[in-house]
Amino acid sequence: MTKKYVTTAIPYVNGLPHIGHAMDYCLADVYARYQRLIGNEVRFQTGTDEHGNKIFQKAKDLGIPVEEYVAGNAEKFREFIETLGVSSTDFIRTTDPEHERRVQEIWKRLSDHIYAASYEGWYCTGCERFVTEKECVENHGVCPDHNKEYEKLAEENYYFRIADFKDRIYRAIEADEILILPEFRKREILKLLADSPDVSISRPKSQLSWGVPVPGDDSQVMYVWLDALANYITVLGYPDQDISEWWPASVEVVGKDILRFHAIIWPAMLMALGLPLPKVLLSHGMVLSNGQKMSKSIGNVVDPMEVLEKHGLDAFRYFFLRHIDTFADSDFTWEKFEDAYNNELANDLGNLVQRFAALSKKNGIVAPNAARELSAGYCELMDNFEFSKAFDFVWEKVQGLNRKIDEEKPWSLVKTGETEKLNLVMKELIVELLNVSEMLKPFIPDTAEKIDEIFTDPIAPPETPLFVKQ
Ligand code: MSP
Repeated sequence: MTKKYVTTAIPYVNGLPHIGHAMDYCLADVYARYQRLIGNEVRFQTGTDEHGNKIFQKAKDLGIPVEEYVAGNAEKFREFIETLGVSSTDFIRTTDPEHERRVQEIWKRLSDHIYAASYEGWYCTGCERFVTEKECVENHGVCPDHNKEYEKLAEENYYFRIADFKDRIYRAIEADEILILPEFRKREILKLLADSPDVSISRPKSQLSWGVPVPGDDSQVMYVWLDALANYITVLGYPDQDISEWWPASVEVVGKDILRFHAIIWPAMLMALGLPLPKVLLSHGMVLSNGQKMSKSIGNVVDPMEVLEKHGLDAFRYFFLRHIDTFADSDFTWEKFEDAYNNELANDLGNLVQRFAALSKKNGIVAPNAARELSAGYCELMDNFEFSKAFDFVWEKVQGLNRKIDEEKPWSLVKTGETEKLNLVMKELIVELLNVSEMLKPFIPDTAEKIDEIFTDPIAPPETPLFVKQ
């Protein structure tokens, strides 16, 4: 048994959980469940990123004390994680006093690479990111992700000397010591790294009061990303505890929009701390809505709770893990969702289970007691983090079973009274179905559990179909 540590990006709490956040959670959950299925022990972090201007401003606009505002929204994220069936073991809030104290310790340990300097340039509050002059000019002064003008800043800051680590980070990424997935993003990051300046890691308190105080300088608070990235190790107890049991992470799941922070600043921090780098950075694509980025102003935001309430958890997980590609941007439309629900979940899988169980019950077929097997092709895809492809692989097996039952026509054996042959055919089909159910466990765990229950003695079809056609 090996120990595996999986992490997710911690969302800002300036709004409610949305479909995009679900991607991080579902992908990390598939990994965690798969690892447990093959016998490994898993620690799985989730949490919330609660500092920074964006959040402070939102609370102020709403007239709510910021502590109260972040606590309320953090709770919503915790509930969302539970609703999605995410099997995380830890939940960290960056306002946890323990986290804040540990980040201050981390700051002190980075101090050989920190210097004070003045900053004059651009900042995007949406991204909570300092923007170079070149980028500002290229984007005509407006952040393309947030549709908001960059702010001009002129302030005294502390800087983290990325230059001290650039070459080592470059080599580590190039040699896949830190494996960036998908492959083409690795090249993007290597290009970006070459031009990466030192990063500002604090803001004057006069500009931003909602942050972790910089140790030894009352006039500054930490830059939100430094504080946030550290969560992956503070949650394990660093620096108070030895974290080598879990660290380095086996995989860190992030959206492509925040890969640069995880592939440049984070490795530099870890190198400065003398800690190993995460093994894999899995950067997933964006969920689009009718082909466009989801945005409140366009009015195309899909509410995850609406999907969950209408069709249930496993339908949600099914769509987002199979029809939303693990790496590429993919589109959500209600039409696609409902097609997948009716044609695939209800028809391919629901009907199959119903038919097998009804035929078994009627003919007194006994549940076979065979060891479960995961196909080698499935394991290879799962081991390579190709989750949506692995799900396709399992679905081909589901469709294969539908074809098989149509070809073998076990009901004709009932008519001809060939009981022994019927037993043999059904037993084989059920063993295959139970293997499918095993492979479905990381993706749609509740349905897989139900299938297992249906095919234990005495086999009986479910009282209501697994998926009611809409
Ligand atoms: N707080 C930072 C992360 C700090 S991690 C140390 C942040 N928060 S976020 O709320 O903006 O995003 C959280 C995660 O949700 C990121 O991985 C981001 O890529 C993901 N998504 C947000 N919108 C998304 C889509 N529309 N589609 C898919 N994922 C996207 O960044």
